[in-house]
Order: sequence, then C-alpha cells, then structure tokens
Amino acid sequence: MNEILIGRAVSRIDGPAKATGSARYAAEFTLPGMVHAVLVQAPFAAGRVDRLDIDAARSMPGVLAVLRHDQRVRYFGQTVAVVVADSHERATAAAFAVRVQGDAAAPVADMHHALAAATTPDEMRGGADTSRGDLAAGLADAHARIHATYDTPMEFHNPMEPHATLAAWDAGRLTVWTSTQGIFNAQATLAAAFDLAPETVRVICPFVGGGFGSKGRCWPPVILAAHAAREVGRPVRLVLTRAQMYMNNGHRPQTIQNLSLGCAGDGRLTALRHDGFSQMSDPSLGQFTEGFAIATRTLYSCPAVVTGHKTVPTSFSLPTYMRAPGEASGMFALESAIDEMAAASRLDPIAFRIANYADHDENDNKPFASKALLQCYREGAARFGWARRRAAPRALRDGHVLIGMGMASATYPTQRQPSHARVALFADGGVLVQCGTQDLGTGTYTIMMQMAAQTLGAPADKVRVELGDSILPRSGVSGGSTTAASVMPAVLQAAQAVRTRAFGLALAHQGATWQGVQPETMTLRDGIIASPRGTISLVEVMRSSRHARIEVDTAAALAPDAAKFSRHAFGAQFAEVRIDEDFGTIRVSRYTGVFGVGQLLNAKTGRSQLIGGIVYGFGMALLEAARPDPHTAQIMNANLSEYLVPVNADVPEIDVQTIDDPDMATGPLGLKGIGELPIVGVAGAIANAVFNATGKRVRSLPIRIEDVL
Ligand code: MOS
Repeated sequence: MNEILIGRAVSRIDGPAKATGSARYAAEFTLPGMVHAVLVQAPFAAGRVDRLDIDAARSMPGVLAVLRHDQRVRYFGQTVAVVVADSHERATAAAFAVRVQGDAAAPVADMHHALAAATTPDEMRGGADTSRGDLAAGLADAHARIHATYDTPMEFHNPMEPHATLAAWDAGRLTVWTSTQGIFNAQATLAAAFDLAPETVRVICPFVGGGFGSKGRCWPPVILAAHAAREVGRPVRLVLTRAQMYMNNGHRPQTIQNLSLGCAGDGRLTALRHDGFSQMSDPSLGQFTEGFAIATRTLYSCPAVVTGHKTVPTSFSLPTYMRAPGEASGMFALESAIDEMAAASRLDPIAFRIANYADHDENDNKPFASKALLQCYREGAARFGWARRRAAPRALRDGHVLIGMGMASATYPTQRQPSHARVALFADGGVLVQCGTQDLGTGTYTIMMQMAAQTLGAPADKVRVELGDSILPRSGVSGGSTTAASVMPAVLQAAQAVRTRAFGLALAHQGATWQGVQPETMTLRDGIIASPRGTISLVEVMRSSRHARIEVDTAAALAPDAAKFSRHAFGAQFAEVRIDEDFGTIRVSRYTGVFGVGQLLNAKTGRSQLIGGIVYGFGMALLEAARPDPHTAQIMNANLSEYLVPVNADVPEIDVQTIDDPDMATGPLGLKGIGELPIVGVAGAIANAVFNATGKRVRSLPIRIEDVL
C-alpha cells in the first residue's frame, strides 16, 4: 500500500482510460436525437452587421435553424449567427452559406496607437496602482540606473482539447456537457443567462484536455449551444474548430511594460518602477487586466517601489487568464531588467538577487508563510553548473555556435478556495471520494485517490473517485493553481471523519473488550481495524451496526490565520542557449528549474506539471505570438500550423528539482499551487541567456532569429 502514499510517484489512475480512448471528453458525448451547431462569424472587426443573408443556408439539406441577431461587431470573428443541422458537416456547409454584410469601421488593431485611450482598471489583485517610498529620490541617489520598455504579445492557450459543449433540455432543466475549468462557474453563468435556479442546471465534465485559463470562464459558445438546443427542441453539440479558439475563449493580452531601476554601489536596489499597459477588448465585453507588475511589489527588497497598470481598448476579443496571468508576462520584464541592472552593477545575477532578497513582504508588511527562494538559487546553481558561466557576453562558444547562460526567479501566489468533499466507506473496504472539482489533466483524480486511500488504509484499486459533475459537493474553479490546495483539505477532513466513525462503531461493537481504548491508538488498513487490544474486521463492524456505508460530507474552511501571512511559491530558473552565429537559430540546450512547492502530493504528476510549465515558458520565450493584420485586426496565424508552440524537438532534457517548504498558514497539508509557478521566469532566464550568448538584449517576446542576427 505504501506505493500510493502522499508524496510518492504515483501514475495517473485515469491514464489507462485516456490511453485506450474510453475517457470521454465533451465533444464525444452523444444523446439520442442530437443535432449540431456551427458558428457564423463576422468577417470584420468593427462596425455593424447590416444584412445577414440566411435564405440560402436555411434551405440547405439537414438545416433545422439559423439563429441570428443583427448587432454591433467588436472583434473579428465575433459570432453573428448559429446554424443548427442534423450533422456537423451540413451545419458547417450552411454556416459558410450565410452572407454577412456590414458597415465595417476602422478597427483598433495595434494598442500602440491607442494608448491615449488607456484607463485604470478598477478590479485588480491589490489594486491597479501601488506606491511606497520615494521613487524619485531612490532613482536620483542611485549609483547605477536603467530605464527600459518590454513588450509581450497576444498569446493563445491552445489546449489539445477544443472547447466543446453538448446541451440538452428536459422539462425546463438544462444539462450541459462541456469542457470547463469550473463546473459551478458554468452552472452559475448558464443559470443567469436563462434565468434559471442554479440547481436546475447540471454541468458535467469528467475530463479536460487542458485549459490553461481558457476554460475558466463560461464563454458565449456554451450559452449558444444551450440556446440552440432550446430553439430546436433537441440536444445540440457545438464544437469549436481550432481556428475558432482564437476568437471565442480569451487570450493573454499584449503588454507594454516600463521598468526603471536604481541601485547603490553594493547592488542594493534603491528604486523600482514597473508600470505600463495591458491590451483590452471593447469594454462592453467585460474586463481583464494582465497584472504584470503585481509580483514586482513583493519579490525584492526595495525602499521605493511604484507599480501601475492601465488597460487599452482594442478591436480584439476579451482577454483572460492564461498560464500564470500577470506573473509570467511581468516577470519576463522584471527579470530581464534585474539582469540588466546586475550587469550594470558588475554583479553576478544570482549574487545581485541575493543582495536584494526580501525576507518579508515589504508591500503588505507581512511575514512569508514559507519561502525557499535562497535554496532554489543555490540548489539550481549547483545542479546547472552556473559556475561555468562567463560574465562577459560572447565568451563561450562551440565553433560557430555561441553559448549563453541565464537565470531568473519564479514566484506565484499561494491561493485556496473553499471546497466541499464527500467520502464513503463500504463494508468490503471500498471507498468512494466525490468532489465537484475538475481534473485539467494535471492529476486531480489521482491525488484524491491517494489521500482517501492513505487515510482509510485502502489499496488504490478499492478507491473510486468522482469529480466533474455539479451534482457533486461544491468546489471552486480550477484556476490560479488552487485545485489541490482547495480540494485536498476537504478530502482529508471527510476521510478522517469517516475513519473516526468507523472507529466509534468498532469500539461500540467490541464493548467491554476494547473499553478505554483511545481512537488515536487505532488504525484502519485493508479492511481491518486494529487497537492495542486486537483486531476486528470492518465487514463485521458494519454488519453488526447495520451500516451499508459510512459517509461524510464536509466543507473545508479557509485557515483563519492565512491572512496574517504573505503566501507565495518561489523558484529559480536556469537556461543555457546555443545560438548559431550565422543563422541566428536559438536552441535551449540545457535547462534546470528548482521550485519550493510546499508539500508535494505526487512526485510524478507534480514533476510533469513543472516540466509542462517550463515547456510553455519555452513557447513564450521563443515561439508564441498572435499576429494580427494591422488593417483588419484579423489574427492571421489563427491555427497551430502558424501559431507556434514548442514540440519535442524544441525541448532538451529538463532537470527539475523540488524543495519541500510546507505552507502551514494556507492549510493543514502545507500545500502550494504548482500549476503556474514553473512558467514564471522562464522567458526571463532565456532572454538573459540570449544576452549572455550574444550581447544583444531582446526586450520583446518572442525572441526571434532576426533579433539576434
Ligand atoms: Mo489559470 S491561467 O489561473 O487557469
């Protein structure tokens, strides 16, 4: 049984179902009488639809309905109609036959030209603007200072699984199978859209093929599927094409970030300013700000820090959370600027960071709940072989290939949401664990199994896990790297309560024989309850007490002292790049990441998450960018054929190491989120390595061949 204990390298229990194809994803569910919906999209980015010619589409074979409403267009590809037909192919053909004519206006296709329209967002973690100390004095007194602007592009999530929904109505009740990071979020959004009580909407999502933030909100296509199903009186499936995923589900907004740093002769920061602009859609679509300067408030010790965020309305769809929103894009800029400042101070980048280490949160004036950053620097430097790096650029080469090394810090907040869980123990030793959470592919099923199995002494194959259904106990959105830290305390609490009840029944059953036995001295393993006075089988205890199951439903409350601490996870990223001097090709040749991850629940799935985050960091650094047409605001590379993401050939062996630094302020298990931490800092480490290799400081992502030639 030991092989499934918390912390061990346990394989995903849903692995066989996924490998054999029996795991069903949203687009794979079917219902009798099911029909298909396809979106019709605006062929311009701004203006108004004047004429929507649907006659041809409506008379095509198999077409059941063409739903439309004339409207203002705010981005290219905005949905203006939905075609429903008896097959996906017929619906697609009819959607192409719908003619959309409009009064196209000039779109805002480049945020650089719209900065005058920028406004300060009112909903942001910790506020849009912060200021402490005297920035002007800190800069004026500095021994060395730098000012620089960094740019990050619009990026798209591109989960493997497309967004898909099957919606069915039955006597005023709505059931929706959809790929989502938050079943209760989807339930609430659908209930509001159709003016229903939330409990009349059921959302089912047993598997998610990646989300990366794009499935955090319940986007319009989900609502349109439900609307179409109600209109035609049949279940409707709506699956987005890959290209449509560049118009309907948010993206990481483009940013323009300004950094000013000053430091004293000993390398201590005297002033730090980080502000700039985050691209937004037309404000009528919602609000989102990439919080790029949030991490800057706490990461380093500095007496004068000013941060600020403004949003710029453009003719693109509403941006959203994507892979460490804010931290990933902001830390590219900050960690590049820190590297520039270290070079200006003639200090080693790690020594510079250690000189500016923050031993408490100077923004909130709170102690850190736990922080392993210094260990991450040291351990990472040793594993990576940082000592072999040459301070001067262009000092290491292998023939015509320049070799550079760079590093960066990583940080991501530790957050937790309230969660319920239900655990049931059966007389045969079987265990059922239920929680209305989601498994994005990261291993939620598996860690839930581990926790219940460990607490109730059951082998893995005796534990059944159910999640991804809004009839299960309520839990939160799987976003902000919160799932494990939110769900696992609830599972632990429910399983412990079940065990306590089983012990109580055993004591009652044994009567005088076990009188005076303290429950803390009792154990449950493989269906046997043991005490210092002997053993009794669970089967016998439950039969005699007439229990078919022992079941407990609990809510795990947030830790009361959590707010007294600043709670973050930290890490250190190390990259080696090899750049061909003649061709400018940039390869990451070696990589080490060391992360303080709190209590690690599963060494195998945890390691996979860390490696996955780093790989997406490679994409951010070197490949990923949406390329809008400057005249039409159409995204010209809206598909995986032209929007580049890393593939195996782009990725060397990645060395990851974890450091246990349990955060006991957040919850009883010491957990921190690890989903997003590992992407943070990767682009900075790679940019710094590119500088070390070439002497060229690239301040705009992704770093391209033409930047280093
Ligand atoms: Mo994550 S970008 O918070 O889904």
